[in-house]
Amino acid sequence: METSQLKELLNRLTVKEKIGQLVQLSGDFFKEDQALLVGPQQKLGINDDMIPYVGSVLNVIGAEKVQEIQQRYLEQSEHKIPLLFMSDIIYGFRTVYPIPLGFSTSWNPDLIEKGYENMASEAVASGAHVTFAPMVDLVKDARWGRCLESLGEDTYLGSQYSAAMVRGIQKDLGPEKGLAACVKHFAAYGAAEGGRDYNNVDMSERRLRQEYLPAYKAAVDAGSRLVMTAFNTVDGIPATGNEWLLKDVLRDEWGFDGVIISDYAAVQELIAHGYALDDKDATLKAMTATNDIDMKTACYANQLEPLLEEGKLSLAKIDEAVWRVLTLKNELGLFEDPYRGASVEREAKEIFTPENLAVAQQIAEESIVLLRNQEQTLPLNTKEKVALIGPYSDSRELMGLWAVHGQMKDVKTLDEAFTECGKMEYLGYSKGCDMLENYDFLGEFGMPMEMIANYQLTAEQKIEVKKEALALASKADVVVMALGEHTLQSGEAGSRTNLRLPEKQLELLKEIHALNKKVVLVTFSGRPLVLTDELAYCDAILQAWFPGTKGAEAITNILVGQVNPSARLTQSFPYNEGQLPIYYNGFKTGRPEDSATHSGRFVSKYLDAPNQPLYAFGYGLSYHKTTCEGLNLSSHQLKAGSDDALTVTIQLENHSEIAGSEVVQLYIHDQAASVVRPVKELKAFKKVYLEGKTTQEVTFKVTEEMLKFYGRDMSYQAELGKFTLMVGLNSEKVEAIEFDLV
Ligand code: BGC
Ligand code: BGC
Repeated sequence: METSQLKELLNRLTVKEKIGQLVQLSGDFFKEDQALLVGPQQKLGINDDMIPYVGSVLNVIGAEKVQEIQQRYLEQSEHKIPLLFMSDIIYGFRTVYPIPLGFSTSWNPDLIEKGYENMASEAVASGAHVTFAPMVDLVKDARWGRCLESLGEDTYLGSQYSAAMVRGIQKDLGPEKGLAACVKHFAAYGAAEGGRDYNNVDMSERRLRQEYLPAYKAAVDAGSRLVMTAFNTVDGIPATGNEWLLKDVLRDEWGFDGVIISDYAAVQELIAHGYALDDKDATLKAMTATNDIDMKTACYANQLEPLLEEGKLSLAKIDEAVWRVLTLKNELGLFEDPYRGASVEREAKEIFTPENLAVAQQIAEESIVLLRNQEQTLPLNTKEKVALIGPYSDSRELMGLWAVHGQMKDVKTLDEAFTECGKMEYLGYSKGCDMLENYDFLGEFGMPMEMIANYQLTAEQKIEVKKEALALASKADVVVMALGEHTLQSGEAGSRTNLRLPEKQLELLKEIHALNKKVVLVTFSGRPLVLTDELAYCDAILQAWFPGTKGAEAITNILVGQVNPSARLTQSFPYNEGQLPIYYNGFKTGRPEDSATHSGRFVSKYLDAPNQPLYAFGYGLSYHKTTCEGLNLSSHQLKAGSDDALTVTIQLENHSEIAGSEVVQLYIHDQAASVVRPVKELKAFKKVYLEGKTTQEVTFKVTEEMLKFYGRDMSYQAELGKFTLMVGLNSEKVEAIEFDLV
């Protein structure tokens, strides 16, 4: 409808109707005919008379269900303002991609954009209006379970993905097409102290702006219609009630005029934080910070009206928030078609299509990282006899914790993919051991004890499968070990301090290794694991993450060499947990390890572990052998305040017959500045495909923009002086050259 009509509509609404637009409830409130009035609200404590006015629904999806709820709701509604359906569609709808930490290793934002466009069209067919994605929380600590959803430790790369994901989700946004994106969790949720979920975040404003905020900003600049607040505090103030963060930075500085929604129950959690005394106080603080929608608490629903009556909150303030919600509904065309074309027919046609599956497989193939390949163990030789061993051999749990719309039956097991591939002499599989020794923690997820017992092998079965695995392995030339974390060990509230493979799995690996077979370790995880101990017991490591619907096929294609791996890590794999947080772009310290003036003990290092991670940012192997040499700069001086750019060239040579892709990475270091700058920062990259035995010149431009940072006075600018430019195929092995900004 026209803006003027929308304004009139807003003016016609009663206070209650307005408040309803700012409340989001889950589907259980909307189940049956009269369910708008009875049932779960008792638990939430929401006033009965408020429920019919509630403006948006959380995590209800499926064309039929959405239509039914919408229709019933509109029949009862005087002003016919449709409900907004918002869901967690995080890395795929029915067609599931690898977890974001996994797909970020593709260094291929264009491909991810395509994936998110497909994801959006599947979800729209099924009735979704908004997805709670992209999640772009920068992360440097693998203890945090939500590494799974993150895009790694680098600001620049994360920002590229963030913008690409928003573009994909919101492609052709309007009636019937495109989902509205909701970037989250604003802000710095990934910096939780100690990697413990929901924990405090405290850092300098400089670091926040320099490293953590840019990926959210990239989403906002790409047009993300919503922003979700974070659960954590930032500088002592919970994000959901943080006026500086939400109003001063997000709205006033960045010009964001879309909808801010709290994370799940985060408004009420202001009380638990110790930032608000009660529901009313929490409501006032969240509204003052310009948080528009209260997700899943009774705060706004019950407290906005009294706050208004007491004169603590103005109607204008409420109107502003309601206006933002109505504007979004209008932009999505809901007033014209409250179903946005969602239908069972469209679901059948547009979901899980061969085209979407092909993209999912490509993403998976570009996201599986070859970490180790001693004596070219991989690809498997067609004449070698292959045994598959480990709890992931016959598992369909390859989608990770947040793929709630994926279906297990769509996923092939590794055993099935091996059997069908026809390119190996496959002897079959054996589990060898349980995924975990103890599944009691499943009880926390509401799983009844009897079910937990089913999950687990009995004592006799344990002995049996181990015997069977050893017998099978002894017949093979190569053993592929499919090991890893349980899916429930990562994701939200999946923080851990021990990041090694489960003990029994490591034990199994050792026993198989003792048979003197070649061992290929395929690891499944939602985070970087500590794989240091495993090095002694395997010849190759393929990091598979949770690779999604087409994961097993992708892994198999890589193992047999049909696909040449090209993924490069985006989060450091620690040598041990004591190094955490660990990341490539730290400061040098006054006494770096390679200090010219200090030696021995008195430098910045651990006595019992290296400073370096086991596998660094940007690292990954391929089946081809490439060199990246001959770094050259068009000039050693860049003129400040001009549009000039330096041209950087480097020669990439593929020495082998095998074609493949490399990610050429460009890093910059500012040698001396008004505030210390990281040893290196990624500023550009190119994923380059090379035929066998060919050479290619790779070119980059270096501009003044790439040299900018938040200086001592917090202005964002480049400072004159000396810089080091580094180019290489991972963050550790680079060629360097100097230039000056003059
Ligand atoms: C998560 C969000 C999610 C929301 C809604 C919260 O627990 O932190 O990422 O979007 O729930 O399901
Ligand atoms: C230590 C100081 C000490 C100084 C002089 C430094 O290495 O950090 O604590 O006072 O040496 O011995």
